[in-house]
Amino acid sequence: MYDILIIGTGPAGYVAAIRAAQLGMKVACIEKSSVGGTCLNIGCIPSKSLLDSSLKYHQLLNEYDEHGIEAKDVKFDLEKMMSRKERVVSQLTNGVEALLKSNKIELIEGRAKILSSESVEVATKDKIEVLTTKNIIISTGSRPSDLPDIKIGDHILDSEGALTLKNVPRNLVVIGAGVIGLELGSVWSRLGSKVTVIEAQHEFLPMLDPRISRQVFREFVSQGLDIRLGCEILDIKETDTGLNINFNDKDEARSLDVEKIILAVGRKPNTKDLFEEDLIPLNEKGFIEVDNYCQTPVKSIWAIGDVVRGPMLAHKASEEAIMVVERIHGSNTELNYDHVPNVIYTHPEIAWVGQSERELKELNVDFKSGSFPFLASGRALAAGETVGSVNITADTHTDRILGIQVFGPSASEILQQGLVAMDNDITSEKFSTTVFSHPTVSEALHEATLAMNNKAIHIQNRKKRS
Ligand code: NAI
Repeated sequence: MYDILIIGTGPAGYVAAIRAAQLGMKVACIEKSSVGGTCLNIGCIPSKSLLDSSLKYHQLLNEYDEHGIEAKDVKFDLEKMMSRKERVVSQLTNGVEALLKSNKIELIEGRAKILSSESVEVATKDKIEVLTTKNIIISTGSRPSDLPDIKIGDHILDSEGALTLKNVPRNLVVIGAGVIGLELGSVWSRLGSKVTVIEAQHEFLPMLDPRISRQVFREFVSQGLDIRLGCEILDIKETDTGLNINFNDKDEARSLDVEKIILAVGRKPNTKDLFEEDLIPLNEKGFIEVDNYCQTPVKSIWAIGDVVRGPMLAHKASEEAIMVVERIHGSNTELNYDHVPNVIYTHPEIAWVGQSERELKELNVDFKSGSFPFLASGRALAAGETVGSVNITADTHTDRILGIQVFGPSASEILQQGLVAMDNDITSEKFSTTVFSHPTVSEALHEATLAMNNKAIHIQNRKKRS
């Protein structure tokens, strides 16, 4: 009898297993494919590898000249770039396997099906057996969503296919201007593809405050992405050279001939054949129903990561893993879902956490806000990275920081500093007394916080109303 059986070894499953082993529990992971899940094998890590490689090439080609560095005959070798990506992936997946081993966690290679609150059937290469356990954690992740009548194949790719192309397409269409669409669109655009991004919504990145999303839109267009909002796809046909896509761009009919299409219209939870329908309830979108602590109505079955509500993010999944295992062990660990950070790893990066100004207005919260442009940051100017700004909001009465949005150099790292303050209930006044090293791009967060309290030094403060 196990204490916990974990299904899936992505950033939710393997983290749960390690924490359980640390707490002395008898634990096993069941994995039908590769250890590390989507994040390590076909998601976060390989995409960041290609984002970094393509950025280096693009900057050498287009931005070094400004620094007085001349680069002649700049070329790239896609095969080499892809092999480096594979090496990064295997280094990390081997690392996770080694961690499982050193924590004495049993790894069962096979397909799991939950039979009851305490039993799981596992089909391995050579046998089918039933394991009994006190608790089950479902961490089976998600897969790309599709659209009716659009079949993934040689020319129409999902995010996995878009990370393994053998040649740079002359041109391509990305369907969906979300996180994946913008990251993958950036990779191929930097390597020379003419990229058109077709988005159904009329608003670009609606989770961002319009001030920031306008900056992002302008910057991406200037980088060469042709972003079309408010589009409706009519049909896609195979041609001799690739594909022909017809769509309405607002009210105008358009037709494009392209080599490839990347479909990036969201992801859906993996729950197929995992249990009988009447065992655990799913919501209308196919997510497993859980409470605030990731417990299903069957008390011994828990579900974490992309199979449950909330953002589909590796770090959210890992923190849910810790919470669940510690709760099984008897503690009251909680996760503050309001403080889960989001990042889009374009260049510059986009990072945000907490409530947007729009949400605060809708909730009738009295808030103050401050902003600081990277153009006024000495370090950003020295680096030639002056696009974007930091925006921060705090409650007018309590001075608690409510939200931060950053578009600019190292946005993900800058955001994290503000998030530490938010998570520890540090007021904006107190946070602004923290000494920031000079010159750093992080000073933009400091200055935005000062600006919120009309104390900015390096930009003009808002005029006080008399
Ligand atoms: P997404 O939800 O971020 O974006 C999908 C976009 O496709 C939306 O803007 C949607 O309006 C649009 N769309 C849907 N149907 C459409 C249609 N018929 N025509 C045109 N546009 C359409 O989903 P995405 O980018 O696929 O990412 C999936 C998940 O993976 C997200 O939850 C994301 O958070 C996560 N992820 C996170 C990453 C990160 O943290 N950097 C990287 C990659 C994925």
